Amino acid sequence: MSETKLALVTGANKGIGYEIATGLGALGYRVGVGARDEARRESAVEKLRAAGVDAFGVPLDVTGDQSVTDAAKLIERRAGRLDVLVNNAGISGVTGPGWGQDPTTLDLDLVRTVVETNVIGVIRVTNAMLPLLRRSTSPRIVNVSSSVGSLTRQADPDIEIGPIMAAYAPSKSFLNAVTVQYARQFAGSDILINAACPGLVATDFTGFLGPRTPEQGAATAIRLATLPDGGPTGSFFEDDGVIPW
Ligand SMILES: NC(=O)c1ccc[n+]([C@@H]2O[C@H](COP(=O)([O-])OP(=O)(O)OC[C@H]3O[C@@H](n4cnc5c(N)ncnc54)[C@H](OP(=O)(O)O)[C@@H]3O)[C@@H](O)[C@H]2O)c1
Repeated sequence: MSETKLALVTGANKGIGYEIATGLGALGYRVGVGARDEARRESAVEKLRAAGVDAFGVPLDVTGDQSVTDAAKLIERRAGRLDVLVNNAGISGVTGPGWGQDPTTLDLDLVRTVVETNVIGVIRVTNAMLPLLRRSTSPRIVNVSSSVGSLTRQADPDIEIGPIMAAYAPSKSFLNAVTVQYARQFAGSDILINAACPGLVATDFTGFLGPRTPEQGAATAIRLATLPDGGPTGSFFEDDGVIPW
């Protein structure tokens, strides 16, 4: 089996995911560019290759059982194992102008869609990739979360955490809780799993309004994807260190 480490990044065709793929590629990882749209995926793979990254496309819609099963088969054929999984794909569920998601008038279908992508999608992809990750000597899983999912920060009136986002923020709290369950399950194994917050980043997701660049937003996820053996697991990080749950 090749010595080159293989990483899969979901939602890697643009934004923070694309920069995570770029950063891991620059560190010598071969990168599977997980993306659901063929044209966007191929254009990202082309750009990454032009930048010197050993990238290949992985058709992947995190909400689809068959899509995720097929993605695992593709990686099995290509490399026979997976070293790093970055669960980056996510949606805000914001539909109109402004960021607000008022809990008192929330569209239940919207909640289902956000949870299906941001939480169930992560479980679906992680479990499909686990047999491949278990073949790595140093498996790493990074769940791209958000500090808006921190219940501690939301409960502190002295912390400015932005608008009420009653579908998105709880989906990231749920993702954080799921990350802890995996960490407990993996205790005593080589698998390290952590959640990462990229900060407020200028991408499609924020209408390009965040103060941080996608490259800056990718940094914590890249650090967690490349943790040394014995590194932290079951924690939630941003650039400045640990975020309280
Ligand atoms: N930007 C921020 O300020 C910020 C802050 C905190 C956390 N985050 C988190 O960071 C992650 C990346 O966000 P971003 O800012 O880079 O957003 P983005 O530019 O909108 O990119 C999101 C990526 O996820 C993909 N995606 C969405 N649904 C998918 C699905 N069902 N299957 C596969 N891929 C799917 C998108 O693919 P398409 O191009 O096909 O739509 C796109 O590649 C998200 O998890 C987000 O919650 C972002």
